[in-house]
Amino acid sequence: MPDAVHLGSGKVRELYALDDERLLLVASDRISTFDVVLPTAIPDKGRVLTGMSAFWFARTADICANHLLALRPDGRSTECRRLEMLPIECVVRGYLSGSGWKDYRSTGEVSGHRLPAGLRESEQLPEPIFTPATKATSGHDENITRAQAAEVVGAERFAEAERLSIALYRFAAAYARERGIIIADTKFEFGVDRTGRLVLGDEALTPDSSRFWPADQYQVGTSPPSYDKQFVRDYLETLDWDKTPPAPKLPADVIARTSAKYREALVKLTGKNIA
Ligand SMILES: Nc1ncnc2c1ncn2[C@@H]1O[C@H](COP(=O)(O)OP(=O)(O)OP(=O)(O)O)[C@@H](O)[C@H]1O
Ligand SMILES: [Mg+2]
Repeated sequence: MPDAVHLGSGKVRELYALDDERLLLVASDRISTFDVVLPTAIPDKGRVLTGMSAFWFARTADICANHLLALRPDGRSTECRRLEMLPIECVVRGYLSGSGWKDYRSTGEVSGHRLPAGLRESEQLPEPIFTPATKATSGHDENITRAQAAEVVGAERFAEAERLSIALYRFAAAYARERGIIIADTKFEFGVDRTGRLVLGDEALTPDSSRFWPADQYQVGTSPPSYDKQFVRDYLETLDWDKTPPAPKLPADVIARTSAKYREALVKLTGKNIA
């Protein structure tokens, strides 16, 4: 890419600078599970994530400004506004699962939100809650309280990020629910543009940044299957891999079924498949 300077690699994306104000985010087909990138790619995954994020960016622009400038014809590359990213992950939970469930079980609280007693695993919360996390440069992100997050980014930015995150989640969760997908929780990344405005960046409301559950398999008190990664997790559980790198390769049928799941989620939500 002669027009771009490589800035770095995330677990899934390659980051390039186009000029002082624009970045190119290229979504690869890499898949990570338990925070470890697998040696096997999932065909079409990068294009599905890129298309799905763009779909949400278009539909939520009236809730919150976002970084999207253009999609490139390859379907996996997003030209976007360069932002100064906030050093927190803006997590919204509508259901009690994962680390939220763990924290609730031991303390009755999640990120400083006191929740009603007697909630069960995967239960829908009375209202979605904002549960920020630190952006770990390596390893797992760590949940922090709202007060800690406010200290990191400033009280005003914090309030704005919380309000926008909840509004985005509410809109997307209702939309997805009508199409057979429960968005149990999701993570947003915001940044500040040159004018000081808070802008939604990164990917948004994809199965990689969220917990997607098939609505028809949802059952309170159990841990519903992951919409996209269940076949991968099921397969990995049959091995005695200790969840540290290097990860094992995936067999062809697990790759094919997982790729189909990503595309299925895209079609369900957007009504369109990728070419
Ligand atoms: N508009 C933007 N301006 C600047 N940086 C951005 C912008 N949008 C996304 N980023 C950053 O680009 C990177 C995307 O790479 P990728 O998604 O692969 O990261 P990652 O390793 O998956 O990290 P994480 O697991 O936290 O998402 C992230 O570091 C994200 O913060
Ligand atoms: Mg990411």
